[in-house]
Amino acid sequence: MNLSPTRCLYLLLLVSFAYSGRVMRKLKEHVHRVHYQRAKQHVLMRAVSGNSHMNDVKEELIHQPLDHFDSQVTETIPQRFFVNEEHWEAPNGPVFLFIGGEAAISMINVLAGHHVDMAEEHGALLLALEHRFYGESINPDGLDTEQLSYLSSQQALADLVAFHHYISQRYDLSHKNTWISFGGSYPGSLSAWLRGQFPHLIYGAVASSAPVKAKLDFSTYNKVVGESLMEESVGGSEKCVDSVWEAFAAVEAALLGGNETEAGKDFFTCEPLDEPEDQTELIQGLADIIMGTVQYNLEGGPLTIAELCTIMTNKSEALEEEEEAYDRLIKLVKIYLTVMEEPCLETSHQKSVLELSNTTVTQAGVGERQWFYQTCSEFGYYQTCEDASCPFSRMLTLQSQTDLCPLLFGVSQSSLPSRIAFTNKYYGGDHPQTHRVLYVNGDIDPWHELSVLHNGTSREDRERAIVIDGTAHCADMSHNQSEDPATLREARREIENHVAKWLKVAAWEHL
Ligand SMILES: *[C@@H]1O[C@H](CO)[C@@H](O)[C@H](O)[C@H]1NC(C)=O
Ligand SMILES: *[C@@H]1O[C@H](CO)[C@@H](O)[C@H](O)[C@H]1NC(C)=O
Ligand SMILES: *[C@@H]1O[C@H](CO)[C@@H](O)[C@H](O)[C@H]1NC(C)=O
Ligand SMILES: *[C@@H]1O[C@H](CO)[C@@H](O)[C@H](O)[C@H]1NC(C)=O
Ligand SMILES: *[C@@H]1O[C@H](CO)[C@@H](O)[C@H](O)[C@H]1NC(C)=O
Repeated sequence: MNLSPTRCLYLLLLVSFAYSGRVMRKLKEHVHRVHYQRAKQHVLMRAVSGNSHMNDVKEELIHQPLDHFDSQVTETIPQRFFVNEEHWEAPNGPVFLFIGGEAAISMINVLAGHHVDMAEEHGALLLALEHRFYGESINPDGLDTEQLSYLSSQQALADLVAFHHYISQRYDLSHKNTWISFGGSYPGSLSAWLRGQFPHLIYGAVASSAPVKAKLDFSTYNKVVGESLMEESVGGSEKCVDSVWEAFAAVEAALLGGNETEAGKDFFTCEPLDEPEDQTELIQGLADIIMGTVQYNLEGGPLTIAELCTIMTNKSEALEEEEEAYDRLIKLVKIYLTVMEEPCLETSHQKSVLELSNTTVTQAGVGERQWFYQTCSEFGYYQTCEDASCPFSRMLTLQSQTDLCPLLFGVSQSSLPSRIAFTNKYYGGDHPQTHRVLYVNGDIDPWHELSVLHNGTSREDRERAIVIDGTAHCADMSHNQSEDPATLREARREIENHVAKWLKVAAWEHL
């Protein structure tokens, strides 16, 4: 084979620019909206039947120190919270705290969800606190790089402590009011860590789909994606994962063979795929559609695993195997774009970098620039595809995903391993010494790989892990629905039993 110097350069560039992608960010945003709509509808139904009083919810702001750990910094940051007193049996009823994460929160967070159902049963005061630097809890210059140094899980936990103090004074609470924290995904980790670090404030914690272990190269994410695509109980099959694999091999071959113009047309890209980094963006976008489908499955994504696998395994006699897989992937993308109401697939790397560099504060939805900062500074979580178990393309490398840390935030790639090691030492990784923390995970959700999946050996943490068969990310947190699988119902019952037991024991202790 005769490779010209340009071609060599081209190949080198091809494997070095990308990062976990824009499609995934759009999917996250989409799921966030769907959840909001579902919960809102539930709340409205309850209001109509006289079971809920939305007018009782208060939305307020407190002002937190910008830096809890340096009193020389005198600036403050606004922090939004919601209170629902409707179910509270004052003065001694418990307090249920819903922890916000990398997106705006809303009044829905104290009106709907499994924690709200439990609050109703136990007469709890319901609180939800937005995470600093997300939603409306941010200063106008909050997205400037130097301001982002005040965005960390440690500052967020200190905010929660200050909030506990504030609410305790305002409602004249005492040690008789038992606090339980709730959170899912990153806030699930915060829920576990809050209880772990401040056990005198928080009596028990539920941590749903919580990736408590930071990890730079999260290659096992895509290993689980492959396994979940094979899982028959959710509509997967071996054929499905094989077909995904073949389709990506065909796209890769088209790009490397110089057929990027055709590939661009085939996959409805918004711009031609001229630059090598745009081609990597295409691969990332295609992978994101499949990763997002697995991660969210029935939890509000545009497609389910069953739908994806039906499309990817629909045989047509006329075509060759490989060609066929490529064509099925085209069909999948078409359906994805239709459901998302997108005219084309965004693959401009430059545009993507500009979006993440934008420091104009928007107060709704997911805070992508901020969250990207937190992956660089604390958690990693880069969903790479260099491992043989990954069903996509080897073009999605760790190097390509972490390129943006120095570019956007001046965080050097060489500093990442020690940052992540620190996070795990500080919080205990997936071997935390925490009691009365319940870790809940779904086994098709790739994030479960970084959570606590086994019961402990000591008497106190013998029953700390719930692993739900066949559910995706944070499924347990929603209010119950008639189509919920039996495993999910059972898991919610177990969570309810734990919370009830904690409250009972706390009441005894406080007699
Ligand atoms: C590139 O496209 C041409 C024409 O459609 C086709 O014959 C060829 O097989 C393609 N090459 C690759 C590597 O896909
Ligand atoms: C399967 O393929 C056939 C023929 O190509 C098509 O008519 C049918 O709609 C496809 N079904 C799905 C679910 O994609
Ligand atoms: C930055 O984001 C804001 C708000 O979304 C938008 O109005 C503005 O055009 C963006 N700026 C650039 C340079 O893209
Ligand atoms: C932990 O123990 C409880 C009680 O025996 C059990 O129901 C649960 O399934 C166990 N969790 C795991 C992950 O094995
Ligand atoms: C959900 O749970 C409540 C009690 O917590 C029950 O009354 C209701 O019937 C359940 N709804 C469904 C759809 O299972």
